[in-house]
Amino acid sequence: MSLESSKPVVLLRDYRAPAWCVTDVELEFDLDPAATIVAARLVVERDPAQPGAALRLDAEQIELLEVRVDGEALAEDRYLLGADALTIPLAGDRAVVETRVRIVPETNTALQGLYASGSADSRFLLTQCEAEGFRRITPFLDRPDVLARYVVTLRADKARFPLLLANGNADGAGDLADGRHWARFVDPHPKPSYLFALVGGRLESIEDAFVTAEGRRVRLFIHAEADAIGRCGWAMQCLKLAMRWDEQRFGRCYDLDVFHIVATHDFTMGAMENKGLNVFNAKYLLADPEQATDDAYRHVLAVVGHEYFHNWSGNRVTCRDWFQLSLKEGLTVYREQEFESDLASRTLRRIEDVRVLWRAQFSEDAGPLAHPVRPDRYSEINNFYTATVYEKGAEIVRMLASVLGRDGFRRGLDRYFERHDGHAATVEDFLGALGDANGVDLTPWLAWYGQAGTPVLDAEAHYDARTRQFELTLAQHTAPTPGQPRKQALPIPVAVALFDADGGRMPLHLDGEAAAGAPERVLTLAADRATFRFVGVASRPVVSLLRGYSAPVRLRRSVEADDLVVQIRHDDDGFNRWFAADALARQLFADALAQGAPAARPLGLWTRSLAETVGDAALDPALVAEMLTLADANSLAETLAEVDPEAVYRARAQVETALAQALVAPLLARYRALSDDDVGDAVDTAAQARRRLRNACLAALCRADAAHLSLAEAQFERARNLTDRLGALSVLLSAQAPGASAALDAFAARHAGDMLVLDQWLSVQATQALPETVERVVALTAHEAFRWANPNNVYALLGAFALRNPRAFHRADGAGYRLVGEAVARVDALTPQVAARLATALGGWRRLEPVRRALMRRELERLAAREGLSPDLSDILARSLAG
Ligand code: BES
Ligand code: ZN
Repeated sequence: MSLESSKPVVLLRDYRAPAWCVTDVELEFDLDPAATIVAARLVVERDPAQPGAALRLDAEQIELLEVRVDGEALAEDRYLLGADALTIPLAGDRAVVETRVRIVPETNTALQGLYASGSADSRFLLTQCEAEGFRRITPFLDRPDVLARYVVTLRADKARFPLLLANGNADGAGDLADGRHWARFVDPHPKPSYLFALVGGRLESIEDAFVTAEGRRVRLFIHAEADAIGRCGWAMQCLKLAMRWDEQRFGRCYDLDVFHIVATHDFTMGAMENKGLNVFNAKYLLADPEQATDDAYRHVLAVVGHEYFHNWSGNRVTCRDWFQLSLKEGLTVYREQEFESDLASRTLRRIEDVRVLWRAQFSEDAGPLAHPVRPDRYSEINNFYTATVYEKGAEIVRMLASVLGRDGFRRGLDRYFERHDGHAATVEDFLGALGDANGVDLTPWLAWYGQAGTPVLDAEAHYDARTRQFELTLAQHTAPTPGQPRKQALPIPVAVALFDADGGRMPLHLDGEAAAGAPERVLTLAADRATFRFVGVASRPVVSLLRGYSAPVRLRRSVEADDLVVQIRHDDDGFNRWFAADALARQLFADALAQGAPAARPLGLWTRSLAETVGDAALDPALVAEMLTLADANSLAETLAEVDPEAVYRARAQVETALAQALVAPLLARYRALSDDDVGDAVDTAAQARRRLRNACLAALCRADAAHLSLAEAQFERARNLTDRLGALSVLLSAQAPGASAALDAFAARHAGDMLVLDQWLSVQATQALPETVERVVALTAHEAFRWANPNNVYALLGAFALRNPRAFHRADGAGYRLVGEAVARVDALTPQVAARLATALGGWRRLEPVRRALMRRELERLAAREGLSPDLSDILARSLAG
């Protein structure tokens, strides 16, 4: 690998407070896509404890025009301009440093710093700074522990850039000579540079208003291109819901007079929480029934909530350094999960989150990119916005909330926000505030942040009918991960309830306690192993364990299929009903893989209980739909020492088909019943749940028997929303129905020009579990709906193929790896961050059977041998190949 493409490693233990800080920033921009001039005036102050240190400002891909100190222009021998920094030796303890630089937004395909977006005839300019993009705009101490107050003035041609925006409150605007105009913004809240944002261009706007619980009137705006502004109404509703919810649930009010959201189709991530000026990937902002699925509606709610909640968890209290990233992201994901759970379906959201945890985080933990929630080293920070930092980070917060209780957690979070408002904090600060507010010591929880790997929780149950005692033995074990050979015991909260054989709740009376406690309780396993003894247990109990998925561990226990059936029928924790069905399905999958077919008796138990479930009109239809949907192949293969993806595919398909065939009658009945009432709009949770189940029934029916494809054809024709149309299309494609290709064409024609819907059209083709999908994806890269420079297109086609189509991706001849390898190289030349993400799909080579292992590894090596790779991609390749 070429050396110039890797960055030096940064270590957590090397953290030092900055030698200089910036207290005040004035920025002036003359915006022009071809050449933007940025003038900066920084008030800098020395840390008295670090005398003699020069001022080192991060600076990348910038043309320096001028440097002044305290008003005096510096000759070139008075500063040093390197590839990534501008260094100025300063004598005193305080100075005013001014710089003028030129940057070129229109050629910035990396989409970091200032760049251009939008249709060819109306390009607009916008920024993305997290994590280290601000240094591509102006020389600065671009690190999150440097908080400054910003005043920003924008100037631009008024006809091309009528809308000008930056963080904070508006502070004047006016016309200039030559058809230009200006606008000024003041952000009263000190912030780190990664939260800086500006937008300039011709965008349409919608406006609403919100009065905070503190009585502040806030003007709310959403800005988007003309063809999209009509689809921003739902996002505006979501914003107001989020603002109210954060007041009611966490006592957090908004703190500026305006809140702006801007939509763009050119964005590497989902959305960004810039202070008072969020920027959104259009995918997570636009929604209307014709052009957005029910899932898209819920994603808009969640992402608008997420970015809004960062205003406290991230912006008012920010991170000391990027090792603490989960401090804002894990906490904010948790807040976002709670928001959607309170407003929509808690059980559905929990199941979806656990599926993501298993698919993305457990597999990350099991591979070469495993790292702790708080990593201790990085070379490219962009590569640490991972499932571990986000999803496992949120799980840690969820565990803390469960051990502190709802009120205790609220008290703790209040303490955290109060104590660290306006400052940059650490994980220790977070645990300290939560612990102090509750009079407990939470330091044992630091281990969850510092230790990588998924703990395995072994549970063993023993009932003694004579003594009426029931013993539950819990033990934990975490396998070594790169750089961490030895693991310590973690505090693991295990929520438990007991049921009798008829599904009745049994009292929980721990030996030694005066009386039975609540019928559900959280046992905390703090050591390698512990036994909990319950007394007065009248009969052998069915144990409902890890209720609500109370800890992010892999549960391993030997449990009778009959007990799981009791849970599928009766567990009053919706999540654990699904968890029981999943556990039974995994047993059947393991049988199918080892013996060529699932064992008859458990299969019968499983299908009979799910048949009842499908017919149960009292259950949440979304939960029923989830119970019909098997875990994906990667998650099923998780415990295998060596994976043959084709064998995994076949075993999974066998179980899936067996279920479908056993359930035809109830599925058909339910499908018909749900078809009669497919009214209800896209924001209606109950209507969404019915559509979810209806589409799950349809998929299973068509899998059981091609005779049912007429139902899919009819649904495709009649659909009045994207969810049903896409659901039917997907079924027609999977079944290779005669009408499938005509349906694909009809779909593309109907949605021509709509980038987001066409992304779905790309994904639905890329995820078809057929070997020849490889060639189809290659062909689609030449389609007019696909552009290599657009991250959404790349994720929709190649990301979907690499991460959600294991059968085609792992094709035995290596063609899938080839396709992804080539794509990674191509994207790396345009958008390194996206290439690095895509490349993680090639990280799992070690666990594959020997032929594929060699093929995938060769693809990684081929990539690594290329010249001129980005630091982002080099880092992923080096870690994927290491060891
Ligand atoms: N701060 C991030 C956006 C971000 C990520 C910026 C990586 C720079 C690098 C934002 O708050 C975020 O987490 N966005 C998520 C969506 C969210 C709902 C989990 C994203 O972009 O995927
Ligand atoms: Zn976030």
